[in-house]
Amino acid sequence: MAKRLFVKTYGCQMNVYDSARMADVLAPLGYASAESAEDADMVILNTCHIREKAAEKVFSELGRMRKLQTAKAEAGSRMILAVAGCVAQAEGAEILRRAPFVDIVLGPQTYHRLPEMVAQAARAGGAVLDTEFPPEPKFDFLPESRAEGTSAFLSVQEGCDKFCTFCVVPYTRGAEYSRPAAAVLAEARALASQGVRELTLLGQNVNGWRHDDGWTLGRLIREVAAIDGIERIRYTTSHPRDMDDELIAAHAELPELMPFLHLPVQSGSDRILQAMNRGHDRDTYLRLTEKLKAAQPDLALSSDFITGFPGETDQDFADTMALIREVGFVQTYSFKYSPRPGTPAALMPDQVPEKVKEERLAQVQALLLEQTMAFNQSCVGREMKVLLDRPGRHAGQLVGRSPYMQPVHVKAAAPLIGTVARLRIVKVHPNSLEAVTA
Ligand code: 5AD
Ligand code: SF4
Repeated sequence: MAKRLFVKTYGCQMNVYDSARMADVLAPLGYASAESAEDADMVILNTCHIREKAAEKVFSELGRMRKLQTAKAEAGSRMILAVAGCVAQAEGAEILRRAPFVDIVLGPQTYHRLPEMVAQAARAGGAVLDTEFPPEPKFDFLPESRAEGTSAFLSVQEGCDKFCTFCVVPYTRGAEYSRPAAAVLAEARALASQGVRELTLLGQNVNGWRHDDGWTLGRLIREVAAIDGIERIRYTTSHPRDMDDELIAAHAELPELMPFLHLPVQSGSDRILQAMNRGHDRDTYLRLTEKLKAAQPDLALSSDFITGFPGETDQDFADTMALIREVGFVQTYSFKYSPRPGTPAALMPDQVPEKVKEERLAQVQALLLEQTMAFNQSCVGREMKVLLDRPGRHAGQLVGRSPYMQPVHVKAAAPLIGTVARLRIVKVHPNSLEAVTA
């Protein structure tokens, strides 16, 4: 009998990729995807541990899942409940203690073993816990990726050795690991043959990707760009320290490489950058962005910021605001500092009051909103290549993404779906750009 799987994803794009791969792993067991947890025989919560709020959400969602599970049991069927991802990795057995109705707890590095875990949970009825960092890379055991649509994620690197003092990733995702180039290219080719036109190469430190014979990410991108059908390439998330000349050159030379780069800086204050153990200062970052813009004059930059890191003074924060203006970021993901258990910054003196963190966050977000709007406005009159991927809300309209990820709508015929069209931007709407065929 067909079984149904519902995966709920929290957090980063790596989790979005992992969720899709977990579904791929379970497909041979007969699991098709369900629209909601209500319709599912198995539910996986793929969790995020990066900030306290993200982790808390998991436990409240588990409460809701328990009710569903009980209702199902009363109706004579079973719902297997699994917690995956970084909360599972960090909390492990604690999840089973707080939520004993959970059947499976698995970390981000063990989901290739899901079929075994499901069988074991079904057989024994007891909970299964697997948060190892196994010696075998999971990628070697995953079935071929199934593409949905024209844009896909492809994980090339995982883990982090940078140990920023605020961050849990090095503990939850483990040490930096690069997938072999051959495996990445095979997956890219398979996706292209299924109609994918845009690939986003993923990694917690994607530009830390390395190959035994000295290849770095710039070279890998060059190889991906040569694949038939792949018209656009992005990569995220990068660390300023790993931005080498070959990657910068790729921005100058490869038209497939989109001129939009997420390059988190976190703070504009040297004192704070040092306390964060970022391994770069403000000036190095600025010079790096200048080099990138020299290579690709159309480049737009996006960043993450943390407000209220321990010890952050008004002057430190002013330095951050000044850097945002100086670089001219067009997009940001910004957060107030959230002390994470087990990270060095959580124990630092001079924790900043919540109210101050919030006020500073609001200022960062207001400034970025201004800069985003100014950037959108500057796009009017420009010609852009837009990957049209679906029908719009109105008849005769298609929607797609600009090179800068802006949603763009245009009056165009349905057969253009799945193609990259040259469009002229004519108007800015609150959440999208309007274009005409150029
Ligand atoms: N508190 C607030 N933000 C954090 N991030 C990572 N750890 C924390 C934390 N403890 C942010 C960083 C990172 C993004 C993914 O999440 O800005 O780049
Ligand atoms: Fe976390 Fe820093 Fe690694 Fe990014 S580089 S994952 S912020 S430790």
